[in-house]
Amino acid sequence: MKSVVVCGGSKGLGLATVKNLLAKEFKVICISRSKGSISEDIFANENFSLILCDLSNAEQRATLALDLANIENIWGIVNNASGPATGPVESASRAEYLKALDTHLFASDELVKAILPQLKRNGGGRIVSIISVTARIPLENMSVSNTLRGAMLNWTKTLSKEVARFNITVNNVLPGYTDTERLLEVIDGVSAKQGISKDDYSNKIISQIPMGRFGRPEEIGAVAGFLISEEASFVNGVSIPVDGGWTPCP
Ligand SMILES: NC(=O)c1ccc[n+]([C@@H]2O[C@H](COP(=O)([O-])OP(=O)(O)OC[C@H]3O[C@@H](n4cnc5c(N)ncnc54)[C@H](OP(=O)(O)O)[C@@H]3O)[C@@H](O)[C@H]2O)c1
Repeated sequence: MKSVVVCGGSKGLGLATVKNLLAKEFKVICISRSKGSISEDIFANENFSLILCDLSNAEQRATLALDLANIENIWGIVNNASGPATGPVESASRAEYLKALDTHLFASDELVKAILPQLKRNGGGRIVSIISVTARIPLENMSVSNTLRGAMLNWTKTLSKEVARFNITVNNVLPGYTDTERLLEVIDGVSAKQGISKDDYSNKIISQIPMGRFGRPEEIGAVAGFLISEEASFVNGVSIPVDGGWTPCP
């Protein structure tokens, strides 16, 4: 049975991806700092395991990379974690940028490098990163996120060309506004900075989404799960918005 590593799999979009992959009969190795919202049912599934790791911590990432390099039958990885702090460029600190780079870019880069030799030996694999629509359309008050997502977009495209000949595909999912804890954080942060109520800010966002609602986590998990699946064998180097039509020109 093939194993897939899902980073940030204890809540939100990562957890929805875990559920999708378990239903597809993959073994799932979930990486997070806590048990989050993982249900007893999932813990009871023999194909599920959890490794606790803080991806923002370089030492913990190094230990995790060694552990992953020694696990057999890894087929793929989903790079994912909580989004960075909100705010404009003028107030973004070096510490915020470094934390975002550590948790997302460096974690993805180091963990992928740990499993790549195995994927090559096994004849193929899948690398998927859950990023954000802000990779393409930078949003106000999301300076660290916008910057990080641009870096991830180009990391993916570069790697996708390098490893394609090994039957390894590298793709991104770009979620739009989706109903998770992260969305609540963004609504709290940005509405306060804009001096409007959370409800007014939520309604303002929904009015910009052609489907007239926030996404559901499982709608993101379904696309990440497809990109991990064998069926997605010729999809490579792309970034797929899953946003109810929010992105004007994908
Ligand atoms: N939801 C949206 O509307 C939306 C839209 C666009 C983009 N995104 C992006 O999609 C990604 C996932 O969002 P989400 O809504 O699913 O977020 P979420 O609900 O906050 O879940 C984040 C997950 O990452 C884990 N995590 C966070 N920091 C970690 C760390 N340092 N080390 C290990 N695991 C960590 C969390 O588990 P623990 O707390 O247990 O560690 C949790 O499982 C984020 O980058 C977010 O910005 C979300």
